[in-house]
Amino acid sequence: TYETITVETDAQGNTGVTLITLNRPKALNALNSQVLDELIQAFAAYQADGSQLCAVLTGSGDKAFAAGADIKEMSEKAAADFYLDDFFSPWTSEIVKKTRKPWIAAVNGFALGGGCELAMMADFIIASENAKFGQPEIKLGVAPGMGGSQRLTRAIGKSKSMEMCLTGRMMDAEEAERSNLVARVVPHDELIASTLKTAATIASMPPMATIANKEMVNSAFEMTLDQGLIVERRIFQILTASEDKKEGMEAFIEKREGQWKGR
Ligand code: HXC
Repeated sequence: TYETITVETDAQGNTGVTLITLNRPKALNALNSQVLDELIQAFAAYQADGSQLCAVLTGSGDKAFAAGADIKEMSEKAAADFYLDDFFSPWTSEIVKKTRKPWIAAVNGFALGGGCELAMMADFIIASENAKFGQPEIKLGVAPGMGGSQRLTRAIGKSKSMEMCLTGRMMDAEEAERSNLVARVVPHDELIASTLKTAATIASMPPMATIANKEMVNSAFEMTLDQGLIVERRIFQILTASEDKKEGMEAFIEKREGQWKGR
């Protein structure tokens, strides 16, 4: 049972799709310690549940995905607290590295500071027309602390990322799509249905191949081209030994849908 998020498996009739919703709408879903602790648990449960094959993370209410780390909570803390707790490290590394199955951020409004950083931890972002992205930490006398300076720069390049971090300005959905920060922009009312549909498509794929594809694409951010090409080739070769490869190719030749075993 969670207090600051909600979790729905097989969400809205989409088999294999988990919907996780940040649920502090009055604080624009600001990320306090409890939210992030509960997110770790929810993502661990999603990863462990063999029946769930794609997750979607969104924010409740009409205004925000998440307006950032909770400024009221952070204002109470001393530098020693941030440093000694290695503030943000447990949350970010636990969510990102231990979730081998795919997840999508459905950004329904403000995604600022830690909210933008959380969205960028997803495998990809689908944004509503109302989405607004930004790293406004500079205005608070700090800087991104959950990966914003790194993931935003890798996503949209140095010039735009630097401008956003230095001015704290927001980027709207149209610019975010043009800048490759998001995969797709959809009408606000259709965001959840549309993202769940994409998640259901992913959940219908052979599950081991899904994890393998995710691992390969992520490798592109971690290593040189030569190393990444070796990783790709080896994972591809391992997949050719799977039962789902045999089934997938037979199903194609026999003009029918594949029945996946997940191995
Ligand atoms: C705590 C927040 C909050 C936040 C909004 N609220 N953002 N509470 N932490 N990050 C609360 C407000 O205090 C207010 O509560 C309620 O949500 C509604 O917000 P308003 O400001 O009244 O709404 P609006 O005027 O529509 O403005 C929306 C907004 C603005 C532009 C998104 O709220 C805003 O600028 N928020 C802060 C954005 C930000 O700076 N994020 C980065 C945080 S730093 P009350 O109780 O007053 O009604 C960060 C750090 C990462 O993420 C790493 C650091 C190490």
